[in-house]
Amino acid sequence: MNLIKVDQSSCIKCGICTKVCPTGFLSMNENVPEETNSSSCIACGQCVAACPYGAIDNTKTPFSSQVNIEHFPVIDSQTAEYFLRSRRSIRCYKNTPVPQEKLLKLVDIAHFAPTASNTQCVSYIIVRDKKILENATKIIVDWMEHQSNKSHWSFSRHVSNYREAGIDTILRDAPHLILAIAPKEFKNGRENTISSLSYLELFATTIGLGSCWAGLFEMCAFSNYYPLLELFNIPTDKSITGAVMVGYPKYEYKRLVDRAPINVTCME
Ligand SMILES: Cc1cc2nc3c(=O)[nH]c(=O)nc-3n(C[C@H](O)[C@H](O)[C@H](O)COP(=O)(O)O)c2cc1C
Repeated sequence: MNLIKVDQSSCIKCGICTKVCPTGFLSMNENVPEETNSSSCIACGQCVAACPYGAIDNTKTPFSSQVNIEHFPVIDSQTAEYFLRSRRSIRCYKNTPVPQEKLLKLVDIAHFAPTASNTQCVSYIIVRDKKILENATKIIVDWMEHQSNKSHWSFSRHVSNYREAGIDTILRDAPHLILAIAPKEFKNGRENTISSLSYLELFATTIGLGSCWAGLFEMCAFSNYYPLLELFNIPTDKSITGAVMVGYPKYEYKRLVDRAPINVTCME
């Protein structure tokens, strides 16, 4: 099956489409871009997006659904730096629920993050039901209590916060949780999830939302603790590969924090 259509009247045979193709699916044949084995096309859309003359179309990534970015404003580096540095882990949330459209927008942006071989294997569960989150915390505390004392992780602080003071230091009373899940057969599920949820966390700040990586939740989920997997109806062929809490931040941050001195080696 032919995936590629070249508009010969606008193609100047510059070969850019073949150079940006990651898999060698496209190559120049007598100065004309030509596809080789259609199964090697990973549907990344680079050929269509990079063609300066709009001469390439690809059934897997149609020209008509690509957005023209030629006249988009480019974010300046100072703004970009402040934007990236001003994302903070939010652990105190307002009690106000976030509308479903906003949460859907978050996962929509998350799914544009890069994935190994463009597998796009991550899917999402948006949890808006506070009762489910309360149950999740309860289940995770039970799980923590059953971990061996020899465990590298000390969970006792979280357990006593919950049991003695009624404070949730696991899901932080966040109104929402977004789970990433991936088929078990994909070996890059976790890596893909990390890039995806990082996009989500950064974008969240632009629509007034805060987020925090739910690492303790993940530890329990990664141990395949059945009551937790059952709570979220995780199918047996899929795994939870990541989780972030989301909500409206209760407090506003006034300053950018510094990090420890950077450790970098330059090899020239
Ligand atoms: C993989 C991962 C797991 C994390 N797990 C938790 C967690 O379970 N609870 C929490 O409060 N913060 C968690 N964090 C947030 C880190 O503590 C936080 O990113 C770090 O302290 C730096 O602060 P900042 O995000 O505000 O810049 C996690 C972060 C990452 C990347």
